[in-house]
Amino acid sequence: MKYGKKAHKRFGDIASRRQEVVRVKAKKHSTSSKKWLERQLNDPYVTAAKKEGFRSRAAFKLIELNDQFHLLSSGLRVVDLGAAPGGWSQVVAIAIGPKGKLIALDILAMNPIPKVEILHLDFMSDDAPDKLKVALQGSADLVLSDLAPSTTGHTRTDHIRIMAMAEAAALFATEILAPGGAFVCKFFQGGAEKQLLEQLKRDFAKVKHAKPPASRAESSETYLVAQGFRKTK
Ligand SMILES: C[S@@+](CC[C@H](N)C(=O)[O-])C[C@H]1O[C@@H](n2cnc3c(N)ncnc32)[C@H](O)[C@@H]1O
Repeated sequence: MKYGKKAHKRFGDIASRRQEVVRVKAKKHSTSSKKWLERQLNDPYVTAAKKEGFRSRAAFKLIELNDQFHLLSSGLRVVDLGAAPGGWSQVVAIAIGPKGKLIALDILAMNPIPKVEILHLDFMSDDAPDKLKVALQGSADLVLSDLAPSTTGHTRTDHIRIMAMAEAAALFATEILAPGGAFVCKFFQGGAEKQLLEQLKRDFAKVKHAKPPASRAESSETYLVAQGFRKTK
């Protein structure tokens, strides 16, 4: 199954869904947990994820990226880095169908998804790339990285930490992708992404920034989508 214009038919026009605003009573909760709870209760993507059986609202970010870049199709071989709780993996598994292969990795444990091989591993550990290669047994058509360290609240530190992950994911992608393959990674804006962008432009025919509507406007989260891998070795 390929997502395209049909995605919004299937999942609904989430952004335009209107729902009653829910307010949380302050007494039982601290101000920050009250804010978080209110945001969850009033977020149409959270509601839609629950309704559609997705494990995270993040599933819609991938659906929207796919609407824009046509990344997913039947039979693809895909690696999903930072996969827990599994929203992206659910979307990929539907799109690639029984002929595809999906390896999902996360440092956190993740509930099984039919036909998805899950690696419970720290991607930044030395042996992670080799373990992924063993699991994949061959090249990949698509490497996805939604990897994100837990945020410290210090913008610069969070930016540097996520860029280290995005760079490691990009390096892994260049080792495993088949010619013509694609790479998607999340990062927080902050300046250090320039180097990664330059490198991706050398390795891929087309590189674009993307901020899917499901990514919260107040978040500095952005994605880089690189397509048309040029294999040199
Ligand atoms: C934004 S969440 C991913 C959401 C996921 N794409 C989904 O659709 O459900 C980021 C994930 O990165 C994982 N992560 C952070 N550091 C990691 C590391 N060093 N190795 C593996 N996973 C890591 C976190 O555990 C978290 O599950």
